[in-house]
Amino acid sequence: MLVVFYVSASAEFRRFEHPPKPDGSLSFLVIGDWGRRGTYNQSEVAVQMGSMGEKLSIDFVVSTGDNFYENGLRGIHDPAFLYSFTDIYTAKSLQKQWYAVLGNHDYRGNTKAQLSTILRRTDRRWLCLRSYIVNTGTAEIFFVDTTPFVDKYFEKTKHHKYDWRGVLPREKYLTKLLKDLESALKLSVASWKIVIGHHTIRSIGHHGETRELVTRILPILEANDVDLYINGHDHCLQHISSNTSSMQFLTSGGGSKAWKGDYHDLNQEGLKFYYDGQGFMSLQLNPTNAKIVFHDIAGKVLHSTNLSKQRYSVVM
Ligand SMILES: *[C@@H]1O[C@H](CO)[C@@H](O)[C@H](O)[C@H]1NC(C)=O
Ligand SMILES: *[C@@H]1O[C@H](CO)[C@@H](O)[C@H](O)[C@H]1NC(C)=O
Ligand SMILES: *[C@@H]1O[C@H](CO)[C@@H](O)[C@H](O)[C@H]1NC(C)=O
Repeated sequence: MLVVFYVSASAEFRRFEHPPKPDGSLSFLVIGDWGRRGTYNQSEVAVQMGSMGEKLSIDFVVSTGDNFYENGLRGIHDPAFLYSFTDIYTAKSLQKQWYAVLGNHDYRGNTKAQLSTILRRTDRRWLCLRSYIVNTGTAEIFFVDTTPFVDKYFEKTKHHKYDWRGVLPREKYLTKLLKDLESALKLSVASWKIVIGHHTIRSIGHHGETRELVTRILPILEANDVDLYINGHDHCLQHISSNTSSMQFLTSGGGSKAWKGDYHDLNQEGLKFYYDGQGFMSLQLNPTNAKIVFHDIAGKVLHSTNLSKQRYSVVM
């Protein structure tokens, strides 16, 4: 079930209301960097997601992007959509809404196809937009299009072409996105504020930190008490705590091909967990507690963390 609301014309981010369970709790899985027609253990990860999804009775699935390798979708009829998505995540528990963002590999294909409403008719679970908000009451989740922030994709190269339709002029697009993100975060009254993007902010993985996001997005997240920043891009599972706020940086990019052994600085300040194999993340939230768990392809719990929030009562 998906209810679409448009807020005022000044806010670009579309809002979707996704009610939590009757007791106010919510659970979902997060997967990133996955679409490889089942190869590189994508299918094994999918099977474990199915059984964890069942166990937690999940409400939806979040994708942190790089949904279709190597070059996104060619068009709305690209069979990769079926071979890498519909035919892979077949478990009953995964027949829920999927909320996805685009990764840099998706931008190498026909981005309009991946964002298209026609795709949503091909598989009703699919929802991918550039930047949008899913409000569950318990948590408000802000999906942010991070690829256009990264300078190197705009440099002329003979290796890759990117589909920037809808993004140019670039600086105008980025300025508006940041302004809309900031005002939406300021207005949020949810217990948990969660931001999802494809690119890393903090990471010890292959790509490491994304300088442009550290400079332009991180200050906005910290100033507005964001609890979790969740990304993919580095093909690993990872948890890093902030040294300047209570924000946690979580990477779920283990949906298929993993970068075994490809990391730097295991002594990074705040590093709680790093796994360079495949897997996914689950979140269980209620208004005062969040439980975050990383799972491998055998269903083993690799790392788990509990966050809690004081409930303040207003004294008049
Ligand atoms: C699949 O996962 C197993 C267990 O983690 C690992 O040993 C193997 O290398 C993986 N295969 C690929 C192709 O990544
Ligand atoms: C916090 O960590 C980041 C990333 O490791 C580092 O660049 C920064 O200097 C640290 N800031 C403080 C105040 O320690
Ligand atoms: C998290 O809380 C649950 C109970 O809600 C507890 O069973 C579990 O041990 C806790 N995990 C950690 C890592 O603190």
